[in-house]
Amino acid sequence: MLPVLLLLLPALSPALAWIPDEEWESGNVTASVGESGQCVCHVYLPDTIFPADRVQHMQEVTKDLILEVKIQMEKMESYEGKLKVYLKELKDLTFRVAMLESSADKYIKLDFELLRIELREFEALVSQLKDSFNSSSPLFDSLYTEIRNMTHIVNQLESYDKSNLDVIRIEFAKLQKKLEDCQKEQDLIEPDIGNCNHTGILSIGKPMVVQLNAHLAPSYRYGGWGKDSKPIRGFESMYFYGAYSSPAVLSFFLYSDYETLILRSAFKQHNLPDGWEGAGNNYIVHRNSIYYQHNSPFSMTKLNLTSVKFDYRVIPAASQRFTYSYSDNQNMDFSADEKGLWVMYASEESMGKIVLAKIDEKSFGIEEEWKTGVFKQLAGNAFMACGVMYVTRAVDVNTEEIFYAYDTRTKEEKHINIRFQKFQEKYSNLDYNPTDQKLYMYNDGYYVSYNVKFNKE
Ligand SMILES: *[C@@H]1O[C@H](CO)[C@@H](O)[C@H](O)[C@H]1NC(C)=O
Ligand SMILES: *[C@@H]1O[C@H](CO)[C@@H](O)[C@H](O)[C@H]1NC(C)=O
Ligand SMILES: *[C@@H]1O[C@H](CO)[C@@H](O)[C@H](O)[C@H]1NC(C)=O
Ligand SMILES: *[C@@H]1O[C@H](CO)[C@@H](O)[C@H](O)[C@H]1NC(C)=O
Ligand SMILES: *[C@@H]1O[C@H](CO)[C@@H](O)[C@H](O)[C@H]1NC(C)=O
Repeated sequence: MLPVLLLLLPALSPALAWIPDEEWESGNVTASVGESGQCVCHVYLPDTIFPADRVQHMQEVTKDLILEVKIQMEKMESYEGKLKVYLKELKDLTFRVAMLESSADKYIKLDFELLRIELREFEALVSQLKDSFNSSSPLFDSLYTEIRNMTHIVNQLESYDKSNLDVIRIEFAKLQKKLEDCQKEQDLIEPDIGNCNHTGILSIGKPMVVQLNAHLAPSYRYGGWGKDSKPIRGFESMYFYGAYSSPAVLSFFLYSDYETLILRSAFKQHNLPDGWEGAGNNYIVHRNSIYYQHNSPFSMTKLNLTSVKFDYRVIPAASQRFTYSYSDNQNMDFSADEKGLWVMYASEESMGKIVLAKIDEKSFGIEEEWKTGVFKQLAGNAFMACGVMYVTRAVDVNTEEIFYAYDTRTKEEKHINIRFQKFQEKYSNLDYNPTDQKLYMYNDGYYVSYNVKFNKE
């Protein structure tokens, strides 16, 4: 059991993550394990008067920050792709602030930590923007200063009297409101979701490490997480998660939204009944059904989360002999993109090269197949985006690259080199989600996501 406070430390320093203890203490903060196993964080605070001047200062800084963001937005309207990423980050930050506002006190420490991480990422993003615009504008410098000031203020606020938390929440709510206004502008320039008017993936953003898995167990190295790629009404913000200490797939957890995912509060747990256990962790959720590999008989399997009914289809050619390089039993890899539902496997006939198949959702059968030129066992994983199959492999322990792309429309293959950072060396699940254009990775126990940037030319 890890204290709540430590949950995010892995993002900062993996070596610190496994301080195993029941009771953890440092200065005026203590953490302990509560009655029902949850982590409780106590913060003993000095008897300080709430610094209204600080809050006012923060408000001013916030105002300046928002103003700067607006100025930057107007200035960079033509750079729509970059701007989108930029605003997406703001949106995430807004969400974290919302979480902070609504969280129970015991999570306050975690929330501050999240906020700090967001601010750091925001800073990195401004730096990225600055580089790509080759701009020495003082506006960028002042944006940096303001982000740093915000970070400083967040740090200070954290150490104030608990009885002032409500005041802090109100201040953050105001900040949230302002960021929401920015968000509205973002929505105006985000018609790209679902649109394949581009020539493929241009780059993958920095990894966003959400947290350690819901079992809080570093031994749960095999798993997957993500969102429904075509959610049904009422489940638009649902997340799923599954993991185990071996490549066997025994259960799935469903969360109504991001916050409940973070708080590990599933609204539903599906334990797979005898005979329906899965393998390999290359599952996805599409239209409220989980598609996963099942080994007896070896087949693609669907668990309809609405009706809780199972169904399966054998793919006669598919072989259990070929798996991806990071895990055993990854014989069938499911994926969904703007074009629909896919499965990737290798066969004796293809001599271990990946065969890509389009799944017809109605009949749950294969509607078309493409033979690709990449050996499954050399691949780390594969995913689909806009009808193109992208395949990854390791560069080194911290770096992965997309090295191969196969376009189902033109039947053309391409060797490419799009690198991205990994948090841990191995991962068992990597999928693109067309609803938010992000990659979701289950990275040796951690939930990680990446923004995907497409080449609009
Ligand atoms: C705890 O807070 C008190 C003030 O209330 C302070 O004097 C003391 O130095 C703090 N202890 C630590 C270890 O930070
Ligand atoms: C930035 O722009 C200046 C002038 O246009 C140019 O000389 C310089 O090489 C550019 N730097 C980079 C890193 O692109
Ligand atoms: C940031 O904080 C420093 C030191 O507190 C202050 O001098 C500066 O004016 C602040 N900058 C902005 C843009 O708020
Ligand atoms: C696709 O993008 C090109 C270039 O930006 C544009 O000319 C064209 O109208 C777009 N097509 C669609 C269907 O959006
Ligand atoms: C899942 O079950 C519901 C209710 O029976 C049905 O309406 C829906 O079409 C099913 N979805 C799939 C993908 O089979």
